[in-house]
Amino acid sequence: MKREAILAGLLVAVACGGGSGARGPTTGAAPEPAGTIDAAVAVEAPVDPHLAARRLYENPGGMWMPQQMTLPGHATAFEQLGVKLDPKTLADPLAAPLGAIVRLRGCSASFVSPDGLVVTNHHCVQRALQLNSTPDRNLVEHGFLARTRAEEPSAGPAERLYVAQAFTDVTAAVTGGLGDIADPVARKDEAERRIKQQLAACEKDRPGIRCNVAGYLRGGLYVLIEEVELRDVRLVYVPARAVGNYGGEVDNWRWPRHTGDFAFFRAYVGPDGKPADHATDNVPYQPRHFLKVSDQGVRPSDFVMIAGFPGRTTRTKTALEVKHDVEWFYPYFIGLAQQQYAIVEAHLKTPGETGIKAGVLKQGVQNRLEKISGVLKGLTSGDLLDRKAALDRRVTEWAAAPGRERHRAAIARLEQLNVEEQRTARADFDRQTAFTESLLLASAIQLTRWAEERERPDAERKAGFQERDRAPAIASNRQLTKQYDATLDRAMLRLALVRALALPPAERTWLAQLLGVRATARIDEALIDRTLDGWYRTSKLADEKLRLELLEKGTRKSLAASRDPFLRAAQRVWKVYKDEERRADARAGESMLVSPIYADAMREVLGGLLAPDANSTLRITYGTVKAFTPTASPFTSGSQILAKDTGKEPFDAPAALLAALRDRSFGPYAGPDGELPVNFLSDLDTTGGNSGSAVLDDRGQLVGLNFDSTIEGVASDVVFDGAIVRKIHVDVRYMLWVMDRIDGADHLIEEMGLRPRLEAP
Ligand code: ARG
Ligand code: GLU
Repeated sequence: MKREAILAGLLVAVACGGGSGARGPTTGAAPEPAGTIDAAVAVEAPVDPHLAARRLYENPGGMWMPQQMTLPGHATAFEQLGVKLDPKTLADPLAAPLGAIVRLRGCSASFVSPDGLVVTNHHCVQRALQLNSTPDRNLVEHGFLARTRAEEPSAGPAERLYVAQAFTDVTAAVTGGLGDIADPVARKDEAERRIKQQLAACEKDRPGIRCNVAGYLRGGLYVLIEEVELRDVRLVYVPARAVGNYGGEVDNWRWPRHTGDFAFFRAYVGPDGKPADHATDNVPYQPRHFLKVSDQGVRPSDFVMIAGFPGRTTRTKTALEVKHDVEWFYPYFIGLAQQQYAIVEAHLKTPGETGIKAGVLKQGVQNRLEKISGVLKGLTSGDLLDRKAALDRRVTEWAAAPGRERHRAAIARLEQLNVEEQRTARADFDRQTAFTESLLLASAIQLTRWAEERERPDAERKAGFQERDRAPAIASNRQLTKQYDATLDRAMLRLALVRALALPPAERTWLAQLLGVRATARIDEALIDRTLDGWYRTSKLADEKLRLELLEKGTRKSLAASRDPFLRAAQRVWKVYKDEERRADARAGESMLVSPIYADAMREVLGGLLAPDANSTLRITYGTVKAFTPTASPFTSGSQILAKDTGKEPFDAPAALLAALRDRSFGPYAGPDGELPVNFLSDLDTTGGNSGSAVLDDRGQLVGLNFDSTIEGVASDVVFDGAIVRKIHVDVRYMLWVMDRIDGADHLIEEMGLRPRLEAP
């Protein structure tokens, strides 16, 4: 309120950027009495002429590729928002600040010290906590703090950190002349062969380098991304579960929020500076860039941006594709997820491993279920579908103009392909669900594939089954051992098979083959139950040693001779599996000629300002700190934790934290209102995969971490709506306060170039 009054009263030119503004630098540990600081500073506070523009700003959306930051639209937007930073600074992914952004599997992270300290979300380090827990040291519950580097344990043999070091446009090499290949399967194979060639050349004689060809704009652009793969990742500091996952599933996707969703890893390399497996004489990795951590945080309406690795969005789909998703795919998927949820829920109280693993599964199923339900609700309750249709119409109208016959024909062909695909969508979905939902069956199919591919020269093998894929396959098999539970696995497979019973028999001939009964046999639930009972009783495939041996040495012959029921089932459906794969390949081979043209037309219609759909590659989004309504605060506070806490999970903050909140010993971490900021909202454009992403201010300093979307806006994965979209970030001041005041992680605060100011209990 005060700031608005100032704004109304004064019209002075800005002295400095929006980053610090009305709040003076804080010194000393004594908590400032609320109110006085604002009043004192107000007299000389520089007024920010861009504040009004930022308040009015509505993010048009866009997960921009760094190279797209040179588009003139961004310079205009930055100017309007009063951002001093030149957007071109963000065009080079290898320079500061983007060079500090790193990828974890499924999450985003960033370097925050010259010694390879990495910050990400609490929910992104759960595997590492599980792995390091023992019956009398439950790290998942209590968190972890290494007092010295020697105390930093391995985060696990499968943990990886990827640091990008080169990006090359390989579109011409991948797609050139593909249109001359008449057979769609041959065309798809040729594209795949070229990609494999790129990868092989990129990784040849370069251990520690992992390459990846990413497709953008529905296949209109391919980029070869070269990353250093750091394999020695260690656990450094994780707050307690009751801080890091405060609110748990009750608050998931929801605001107001009070979650300290942050954690620290450290990357290590061999003494020679090269990526190495975990070893005691390894040394901390020295990143080329690391982020400067702000201890000031942000204020309402401040400019913020996020750099990270969003996983998947579908904004360049046609209206017809989206319509099918809304009318069929989302509801169907929700139906399956609800049944899966009921299964895990029913097993939560099962004694022993099953109950524990059901708990882990539940979190994933519930998260997915809520997300998809939110997407469907968002698409069907507002005008998003109309907006989608309107954009699609502009695209087709654009393509209808004279001289654009190629576009027009391609779009017509794409829609034809879509209609064909939709015809078998349900049967395809049910079959794929049946083949993938059981870890044992999926593993049996995967082993069959390895045996077959291993007989071929490496370059000719299917992508995903080459030498370069062996280590990841071994790691995921080890992972499987930890996840597997016979009761839950059987229940999930049973569900998938029973669901498939509802298909017309002609569309599920694979089911009889899978179960090993005659094609004409009557299949019912009792038969499925009897068969699965036998399989789970006699199969040995849960044994990791056996699976790894088959992975390395299995042959088509040895698998064909196996007595294991899952391997036998996999052999029986192998032909269907491959036939269906060919059908999908043919579709992909057709689509690759036409779908890029749709994205191209969409970009034309949008005047060049089209960000490609998310594909787990580095992207930037920018906007402002913003609540749902202009009068609400975009911040939550420590005091609200006191009001919200029930002492019962998930609202059971640690006693020391509650006491410190009651004391109001916030030190320099208090906001201008004297409260401790905990989480804040923005209108940034993110999706799954952006967890752990650095939230940066207009100087490129870290002011928070992204960790969630609000459910109201998740339909933005399909149609972006800046008026509804809100993202939830943990405030850097809360992170620092917890480290400083609660957990005594002083050495890490110092490592990040800041000074601890408070006494931990
Ligand atoms: N909903 C968030 C993201 O998808 C956070 C998930 C982890 N946290 C949780 N309480 N389940 O994707
Ligand atoms: N929670 C999501 C994740 O795990 C990210 C939140 C978002 O930005 O949508 O990746």
